[in-house]
Amino acid sequence: AMRLLIDTDTAGDDAFSLLLALRNPKVQLDAITICHGNVTFDQCVENALYTVEAAGRSGEVPVYPGARLPMMRKPLDAAYVFGKDGMSDANYPPAKQRPETRHAVDAIIDTVMAHPGEVTIIAQAPLTNLALAVMKEPAIAQAAKHLWIMGGTDNAVGNVTSAAEFNFYVDPEAAKIVVNAGFKASLLTWTRSMVEGVITSAELDAIAALDTPVSRFFTRVNRDSLAFSRDRQRIDGSIHPDALTCACALDESLVLEAEDCVVDVETAGTLTRGYSSVSSAILPDAADADPDLAPQVPNMRVIKRADRDGFVRMM
Ligand code: BDR
Ligand code: CA
Repeated sequence: AMRLLIDTDTAGDDAFSLLLALRNPKVQLDAITICHGNVTFDQCVENALYTVEAAGRSGEVPVYPGARLPMMRKPLDAAYVFGKDGMSDANYPPAKQRPETRHAVDAIIDTVMAHPGEVTIIAQAPLTNLALAVMKEPAIAQAAKHLWIMGGTDNAVGNVTSAAEFNFYVDPEAAKIVVNAGFKASLLTWTRSMVEGVITSAELDAIAALDTPVSRFFTRVNRDSLAFSRDRQRIDGSIHPDALTCACALDESLVLEAEDCVVDVETAGTLTRGYSSVSSAILPDAADADPDLAPQVPNMRVIKRADRDGFVRMM
């Protein structure tokens, strides 16, 4: 089995990423850790617990509450995309399973250090929990098998500002710490999400037509973000950055093109807060001309094209 830990601000698409992991018999989901983000913190915790139950796995996967605030910035949510409760205002009752008392940061460290070289992490929220975990135990970067991050862009067209994607915008300091921490890591950007992360209306209809408890859950929870992407982004379908990231992590054959890149995050800019700088590498000529442009070593694999049809089939 593939050992997995998912760090999530559970609302909307986060729940579908959890479903992919929870319903895959080859995945051993060791922990779900919760970070502030999409909706109020306690609601993100409840949404994760409810999703575990909706997947038929109640009591089997622990949910650990983590950081309630970004490191230095004011918190920001995305209730305007996912509804006040993050689940398109389905207002589900509290799940039977309750959150763990151990903190998410300790759960991340303990899970990774207990199984060196085995645990894949999917980070699909602002990166506060992961950054704090690295600060408390830097050895997790080497000990983790792989870190998948949903965040940033590789063309500077964001979804919060023109420069930045939500997860990196909300806690840019945390994102900067994590991308530079030395993980073996892959980045799935908002740029890719807008292309290969789209499930079309016709495909959504096909999922709804399955009419199983899980497909009904999916369709109900997806309602608000579908309306948002149709009205505001003029896309005939809904956008699934977190689920696409999870799909690629679970099935590497969905990665069609990727490139090792130098990735960093802007923390000092105002217009560019949370901008992700993604470059193939600094050209040696440019480095000769300007000593500030020292040649850099790639620190992440950036996904440049994923298999959209394969992703939709998995969903
Ligand atoms: C990311 O931001 C959140 O709103 C989504 O859950 C996803 O992780 C997309 O920018
Ligand atoms: Ca998310």
